[in-house]
Amino acid sequence: MADPRPRVWVSQPLFDEVVEQLGQHFQLEMTHAVTRYTPAQLAERLAGVDGAPITLNERIGAAEIANAPRLRAIANVGVGYNNLDVEALSSAGILASNTPDVLTETTADLGFALLMATARRITEAERWLREGQWGQWSFQTLLGADIHGSTLGILGMGRIGQGIARRGALGFGMRVLYHNRSRLPEATEAEVGAQYVDLDTLLAQADHLVLVLPYNASSHHIIDAAALAKMKPTATLVNIARGGIVDEAALAAALANGGLAAAGLDVFEGEPTVRPALLALRNVVLTPHIGSASQATRRAMVQLAVDNLTAALDAGPQAGDPPSALNAQAVADARRARAGVGGKDIDDAKR
Ligand code: GLV
Repeated sequence: MADPRPRVWVSQPLFDEVVEQLGQHFQLEMTHAVTRYTPAQLAERLAGVDGAPITLNERIGAAEIANAPRLRAIANVGVGYNNLDVEALSSAGILASNTPDVLTETTADLGFALLMATARRITEAERWLREGQWGQWSFQTLLGADIHGSTLGILGMGRIGQGIARRGALGFGMRVLYHNRSRLPEATEAEVGAQYVDLDTLLAQADHLVLVLPYNASSHHIIDAAALAKMKPTATLVNIARGGIVDEAALAAALANGGLAAAGLDVFEGEPTVRPALLALRNVVLTPHIGSASQATRRAMVQLAVDNLTAALDAGPQAGDPPSALNAQAVADARRARAGVGGKDIDDAKR
């Protein structure tokens, strides 16, 4: 007899022992090699399944789910979800989820590590040493910018931004300024040691500016040539959010012509391809999108995605109530509307 259990497809290798928990409730199809899918391949993989944990590599919109009548749940293993067209998923009655909180501190660590490496020219110094250029210790070699006591600017003050603020204010005695769509409650500002300012003030006053805001149409290229021109030429810029927030051509030009001292980038507009103009610069620290990449955190992210998917497919202890759903209300509305229009005929699989 055919296995009646819902089918789950796992798009990339994650942590097998965590993902295998899904086998308690579902038919499971794992992927054992890192894979790049075309949109057509993604559509084909999603066509016959009820749910899928996916990563930021997989971009899922209306076209990818058009032929997926059984699909009820997409669990993004990551906090940023600009790879998902949440509106399209909602209208199709597909519950989307992400993995917030579990990666906050690890990603804030990486943001701070990049800030320090960028300001103190760590990777440039190592390259110089490995190239055999260290003939004699000298007083004015590889001078960088101070971190302690400087002004830290944070653009985007969600959980990760707050983690970076704490590190700066409490650990390094920095004056911390932030800008965000909405201002934090005063008690939170006091707790993280940060002061709200408008965007122009942030750009003008930051010695080190860290970008931690979500990527969407309104944050696309928010750091463009005009924004960069407002920054101090001695400042550093760190991006741990999404590449598209920065106009990389303008950034490369500013770094090359002395408009900005240095940048630390963990994310890129065309990743995994990195713009040659950035690769050619010595005053840029480049990492391959590793913000949440600690052993413990990556495991916790997969566990949360497994819990989200299990609950979204109405199994496990939180059945029907995924811990971090992105569109629960919209999906409930869409499913109700379908039930109204089609009577009892609502796609049974999408109850
Ligand atoms: C990684 O960039 C994430 O959004 O989790």
